Amino acid sequence: MELTQALREVVGATHVLDDPELTAPYERDWTGRFGARARLVVRPADTAQVAAVMRCCAAAGAPVVPQGGNTGLVGASVPREGDEVVLSLRRLSAIGEVDPALGLVAAGAGATLGAVQAVARAAGLDAGLDFAARDSCTIGGVVACDAGGARALRHGTARAHVAGLEAVLADGTVISRMSGLAKDNAGYDLPALLVGSEGTLGIVTRVLWKLVPRLDRRVTALVPLASVADATVLLAALRAHAPSLESCDFFLDDGLSLVLAYQRRASPLERRAPVYVVAECAGRDDPTDELAEALGQAGVEDALIADDTASRERLWALREGHTEAIGAAGVPHKLDVGVPLAALAGFLEEIPRALASAVPDVPDARAFLFGHLGDGNVHVNLLGPAIEDERADDAVLELVLSCGGTISAEHGVGVAKARWLARARGAGEVAAMRALKQALDPAGLLNPGAVLPA
Ligand code: FAD
Ligand code: MLT
Ligand code: ZN
Repeated sequence: MELTQALREVVGATHVLDDPELTAPYERDWTGRFGARARLVVRPADTAQVAAVMRCCAAAGAPVVPQGGNTGLVGASVPREGDEVVLSLRRLSAIGEVDPALGLVAAGAGATLGAVQAVARAAGLDAGLDFAARDSCTIGGVVACDAGGARALRHGTARAHVAGLEAVLADGTVISRMSGLAKDNAGYDLPALLVGSEGTLGIVTRVLWKLVPRLDRRVTALVPLASVADATVLLAALRAHAPSLESCDFFLDDGLSLVLAYQRRASPLERRAPVYVVAECAGRDDPTDELAEALGQAGVEDALIADDTASRERLWALREGHTEAIGAAGVPHKLDVGVPLAALAGFLEEIPRALASAVPDVPDARAFLFGHLGDGNVHVNLLGPAIEDERADDAVLELVLSCGGTISAEHGVGVAKARWLARARGAGEVAAMRALKQALDPAGLLNPGAVLPA
């Protein structure tokens, strides 16, 4: 039977899309840099349908791109060649009841992070993970990317929250580790293998998410600083004097100007500075004194402090608003990288020079730099070079490796950085990864070209 018809019989005709007007939102990534026409978009409702869809695609030899909220930033959530089936998990959005004794909740892959947060908070707990795409990204996508965000500093990346999962393999086999047993080391840890695999080893259909205590007393500081070195001193003081520290992000002054212009607001700070840190402490008790002590120890005199939700959100909007403001200014080349803290200042200083020498013929090339200071995680956003011009990307990634850093800290490798995987990980590791891929997906149907270059 022809693939379209076979898929219609599995999910119903209304959930197999081939009309370009309906498929368009599934075909272009959030940045606008990646995408191609999909052969079809298929929207199963449950795990059994996902398995049946995979059996149909395997029989037809059709490559499949799993997609959640399509907020991924490395080009791996959309078709690239024009012949892929986009398998949208968004309809698998059911969230179970929180198990308060175990501190776990089971969520369908298509549940948004925001929905999981809401369910957790209503039960007196929290998801422990948060970032600006919370209301669009899905828990399946979060797990598939091993997403991080500002709170990873305290609670870890998605990996730290996966207590189990259910997934469909390339041939339609369903694997399930949803028992919630705290100790269960019988056999290889297949769920751990799927975390961060970016849709290349299996399709996550349900996740058992480990929750954290809900910490309602929150205080946020926006701190203008003279240098990245000062920011590092502040981070050390926060670690030493504020055990309630949850987030410690940073951005630079040109990013602040862009965000202020985009959000049509004035700076809330009395003075501008080269570097800004946004730090948040959270606890059951008021963490204001801890934060003040840390700021004092770091010699900070003019921080803006916010302790109610609306004011804290207005401070965070200056940091979280970078992604949208940059996206509105052009199609960015987004390079999410990590560098050792000791190398951070040098790395940031070197980027404009690296850019100028990589693309001397692109005089308006600019780099916006921001990220999660506490994790040494820098989001290098390049504007100016054409979509397919990778000279500046290469220069930045070369610099990252020369600093002992990683080409991907939290967004994944995707297709954007697949070319760099062997340089970053070495031939031995890439051969082991290819062996895993071959074992689980011998026909290479799951997200071909993502993570491992074709
Ligand atoms: P998609 O974009 O749909 O897919 C991403 C990848 O996961 C693709 O490779 C896809 O094939 C695969 N995939 C999706 N669902 C499944 C599934 N069920 N099974 C198997 N594979 C699947 N990321 C961070 O880490 N930290 C941040 O702070 C952060 N902030 C962001 C802010 C904004 C404004 C935006 C737009 C993005 C941000 N991101 C951040 C990136 C992105 O939101 C996350 O990576 C998120 O986890 C992607 O989830 P998604 O459901 O949108 O996945
Ligand atoms: C962030 O921290 O804001 C995100 O990872 C998104 C981005 O890099 O633009
Ligand atoms: Zn980030």
